[in-house]
Amino acid sequence: MTDTLMESAHLAIGEDAADRIFRHARTTSQWSDAEVTDAWLEAAWDLAKLGPTAMNTVPLRLLVVRSGEARHRLIEHMGGGNKAKVEAAPVSLVLAADPAFHEHLDELFPVYPGIREQLAPATETREQMARTNALLQAGYLVVALRSVGLAAGPMNGMDFDGVDNEFFADSGWKSFMVINVGVADGEGSPHPRNPRLPFQQVTETL
Ligand SMILES: Cc1cc2nc3c(=O)[nH]c(=O)nc-3n(C[C@H](O)[C@H](O)[C@H](O)COP(=O)(O)O)c2cc1C
Repeated sequence: MTDTLMESAHLAIGEDAADRIFRHARTTSQWSDAEVTDAWLEAAWDLAKLGPTAMNTVPLRLLVVRSGEARHRLIEHMGGGNKAKVEAAPVSLVLAADPAFHEHLDELFPVYPGIREQLAPATETREQMARTNALLQAGYLVVALRSVGLAAGPMNGMDFDGVDNEFFADSGWKSFMVINVGVADGEGSPHPRNPRLPFQQVTETL
């Protein structure tokens, strides 16, 4: 057993859950025929949305790409080998950050009255906040997808400006990732898993 697959005495979730979410889960490019319904995606979102974001901004937005027509529009803007990966995926999610997240803050962050108006003219700050927090939410989304039995294949080899012009010209959303989603066929990856850096190598304790 490699160190990434070892059982841990410190788990607060079941071994099965840790296996499903982390130890056995792979970045997936090989899919079964299982249909990914909107209800299934919504179940994942209902977990992912609870992950923390700064001032509860929740700036991640998702474009669900299902139809052949939408898929071809997306493939146009994917890089090299990622075109075939979108082609093969049951569903692809385009992840984007919404710089206009502040419009929702009266509801999402009522503890700070006036923050919506305060952020309205601060375009650059909003863009940075949207990106940072949407990226965090992308991580939560991968974990959430795995938690509901779906597999994820995240990719960012793509032309972001092209995707934004194609899909987000009206909304102003800023794409930053595509996640292919479905049920994995077996392990879901043709490659063995690469190693990860151990705790001792990535920590400095003062
Ligand atoms: C933000 C992000 C961007 C990635 N971009 C690409 C990509 O453009 N194309 C691709 O084939 N894989 C891409 N990957 C897949 C990674 O190489 C993969 O997740 C990593 O090697 C871990 O693989 P594993 O989960 O199977 O252990 C990306 C992954 C992440 C998280």
